[in-house]
Amino acid sequence: MCGIVGLVGQANAAEHVLEGLKRLEYRGYDSAGIATLDHGRIHLHRKRGKLQGLVDLLREQPLPGSIAIGHTRWATHGRPSDENAHPHRVDDIVLVHNGIIENYLELRSELTALGRKFESETDTEIIAHLIATTPAKSLVERVRATLLRVQGAYAIAVLSPSEPDTIVVAKNASPLVLGISETLGIVASDIPALLPYTRTVKILEEGELAVIRPGSIVITKLDGAPVERAARVIDWSPVMAEKGGHKHFMHKEVFEQPRSVVDTLRGRLSARGDDVELPDTVVDMVARASRVMITACGTSYHAGLVGRLAIEELARLSCEVELASELRYRHPLMGPETLTLAVSQSGETADTLAALKEARHSQSPVLSIVNVLDSSIARDSNQVLYTHAGPEIGVASTKAFITQVIAFYLLAIGAGRRRGLSEARARELVRGLRELPLTIEEILHQEPRIIEIAASLKAARSALYLGRGYGYPVALEGALKLKEISYIHAEGYAAGEMKHGPIALIEPSVPVVVIATQGPLYDKVIGNVQEVRAREGKVIAVVTQGDRRIREMADHVIEVPAVDPIFTPIVATVPLQLLAYHVADQRGTDIDQPRNLAKSVTVE
Ligand code: AGP
Repeated sequence: MCGIVGLVGQANAAEHVLEGLKRLEYRGYDSAGIATLDHGRIHLHRKRGKLQGLVDLLREQPLPGSIAIGHTRWATHGRPSDENAHPHRVDDIVLVHNGIIENYLELRSELTALGRKFESETDTEIIAHLIATTPAKSLVERVRATLLRVQGAYAIAVLSPSEPDTIVVAKNASPLVLGISETLGIVASDIPALLPYTRTVKILEEGELAVIRPGSIVITKLDGAPVERAARVIDWSPVMAEKGGHKHFMHKEVFEQPRSVVDTLRGRLSARGDDVELPDTVVDMVARASRVMITACGTSYHAGLVGRLAIEELARLSCEVELASELRYRHPLMGPETLTLAVSQSGETADTLAALKEARHSQSPVLSIVNVLDSSIARDSNQVLYTHAGPEIGVASTKAFITQVIAFYLLAIGAGRRRGLSEARARELVRGLRELPLTIEEILHQEPRIIEIAASLKAARSALYLGRGYGYPVALEGALKLKEISYIHAEGYAAGEMKHGPIALIEPSVPVVVIATQGPLYDKVIGNVQEVRAREGKVIAVVTQGDRRIREMADHVIEVPAVDPIFTPIVATVPLQLLAYHVADQRGTDIDQPRNLAKSVTVE
């Protein structure tokens, strides 16, 4: 996610803001910029690439002034470039923004009609134009009037020479924290940037604005109503603060999943509730294909297995899923009739990139599901459906997987509605998607229970994960999470395969994790659980809340809310992420950087 830092009342404010941006680097970014005010003038530097570029620029051309705002950009609208970097300056307004404006195209065409010219591809510049063209007696009122017309997620900080000692900030769905100081005004997207100045903060809430001056903060609602906000004292260390108080990035990212789902769904479900809102160019690629070849690696491959089930169920379209490291060497029988669907968090995985090139060579059109904007796989695809998970720092993929699965649901519903999926079924699915963020929140509250279960797993030398149907990719993903961060051997298996070999492994020392949530194959899974119990195997079962049948058979039960079986991969994976995390934490392994692993496998 983007990082914002603002400071007023501090000599040489640009250097201080730069230091603050460095403390937000962990958030991931692809460009950065700083703006100051001095003697009635705006001074601005912005640059694609890492902060070092900005450091060099500031050394050559310092920015004067005791008020500054800075930004690190994680590109969502508009590729990484100098022009798209923030701050954006329009007339007497300079602004930084974190978030996604949903109605920016409508606002942009309105401004164009007024003769406004744009220098960037960003949704952010639209906000700057709106404020610049809004007459009002004060800066905060110009910002307020503008935000009443903006839909979407934003955290913004605004400067203007019209009020040289003032930073106006506003928040809706993207974080902003205000630092309490007698002499300064300080604001940032996250706490680490504030710690050098203060440990006392106020958190801006949804739909609030604040006027920040040296030693003064005035918070109001979007409608102008005053807000009284209690201050909080932060006792985190700077390292803990980078992780938002979480012990590891992976833990932080597991808990960011409700937000990642909201961000990935944002603007992509129809207001009528009976379809998705995706570009026709994207949905038509799926709807018009004769067959689909999904290809990916690791966790993204597991998301692809879910995607196949969803596309076949909802769009009645034949899908295959193949590991990219296999597909790239197989010279597969693919042509214009086959849609290749590449899935990748990083967008840089060498095997997936090579498989995509093989597909292009065979004239197969490529659609990719990618998290990193403008990455190699995104650039090499005909169309891209971006997940908005935000930067994923932990090597073990969590929120990226969940949002990849969400992206597949969107494609399957969209293509399905063009291939006979009923309105009624589509409404059920759209309603179910909207409920998922809260459902995930509910599951995350089970963490204390999962910590206890993890204690029973941590001494194991091997574990088996079993699932059927939508639970089978979950078994694979749960096993991968455990093995890659705890170093316990774990194998995911189709539960129906038990008799064909794995049942020989069953003994009390081999825990068996079973995805046994409600669904058309539930009774079959019960049979597998009984097979395990009959051989004194230990069973950890993920079940639907209120399930009484499995309780007698399982040693441990993790209950998840009832959902449409198609959403099993979402509700059953989250507890297994936490299970793997706590087993690894109790074993003391390097969870964010497990041995021998890299976040992006850019080599074969
Ligand atoms: C999963 O936890 C691993 N980090 C790994 O399997 C990963 O999913 C795989 O390397 C694919 O990466 P990508 O999604 O960036 O292409």
